[in-house]
Amino acid sequence: MDYPNELNKPFFILAPMDDVTDTVFRQVVADCAAPDLFFTEFVNVDGLQSPGRPRLLNKLRFVSGETKLIAQLWGVQPENFKAVAVQIADGSLARELGLPDGCNFAGVDLNMGCPAKSEVQNGACSALIKNRPLAKAVIDATKDGLAGRLPLSVKTRVGFNEVDMTWISFLLQQKLHMLTVHGRTRKEMSKVPAHWNLIGEARALRDRAGVGTLIVGNGDVESHEQGLELAKQYSLDGIVIGRGVFHDPFVFAENSNWAEKTKAERIALYRRHVELFAKTWAGNERKIHTLNKFCKIYISDFDGAKELREQLMQAESAEHLLGMLPN
Ligand SMILES: Cc1cc2nc3c(=O)[nH]c(=O)nc-3n(C[C@H](O)[C@H](O)[C@H](O)COP(=O)(O)O)c2cc1C
Repeated sequence: MDYPNELNKPFFILAPMDDVTDTVFRQVVADCAAPDLFFTEFVNVDGLQSPGRPRLLNKLRFVSGETKLIAQLWGVQPENFKAVAVQIADGSLARELGLPDGCNFAGVDLNMGCPAKSEVQNGACSALIKNRPLAKAVIDATKDGLAGRLPLSVKTRVGFNEVDMTWISFLLQQKLHMLTVHGRTRKEMSKVPAHWNLIGEARALRDRAGVGTLIVGNGDVESHEQGLELAKQYSLDGIVIGRGVFHDPFVFAENSNWAEKTKAERIALYRRHVELFAKTWAGNERKIHTLNKFCKIYISDFDGAKELREQLMQAESAEHLLGMLPN
């Protein structure tokens, strides 16, 4: 399967965000204004190949209506990347998640960008920027496991401590289907504006390398319109939007009218989110407090929003929270 790349029109992807972009939130965003593709949260392959697997599988859960979902993996053991890639490519992991035959992920992405200390100390994620032999081994092992059955992509940053575009050139030599470039170094975390000129440079490097890798830009995009402008300016194939969805759940709409939504409409959308959360995580697989980070998306920009948020964040269960939401 190929990712959309029609009519020279850039495609849009909802960023992978840990503890945020689970199946529940992806379904809410898809109902508001769907991007072309979605990522799962990142999931650790070494953990998946351990007794901790059942708990981690929750990060990969999806429903059959989610047909454009890329599984994002991280870890350090190439053999575990290979094993999980096999399970994804042959559909057995999707069956384990309870999905019907024929229903599968659309691709696999490797996280080589997460800056968090715990992952980096482990030698994983953005630490791979400084460990090309391991990065290559991880890519090769995943490719082996996928055996061409699903596209392989990488999401990364433009360097570890310093900008290092040789890292991008190195990745382009790996014949990836897609490369998402978050325009900041690991050291910069999210503290400085994304360097879109470097994302544009990645596109130029792709052309010079003469490979077909789709180049996708990421960092600080707040609207579909802004994404289109950046894609045009830097000749990119696609745009990834992450935190922008916290300010506008309709961020992927060509003309979002979120700013005009009434208090009742905002509350109704949060109700839908909480109901789906309660149904999906009925076994308490996700704690109620994980909903708190979504509250501000919906309960904002109306009189009394702050006070209402403070009350809602005290809820002890989804039922309790639903009971507190005004009609
Ligand atoms: C809460 C949160 C969780 C994130 N989790 C992941 C993750 O699991 N995998 C990943 O590649 N990036 C992760 N990121 C980074 C985003 O995917 C994205 O690269 C970053 O937020 C910059 O894009 P933005 O400015 O559009 O938000 C996370 C970011 C946030 C804010």
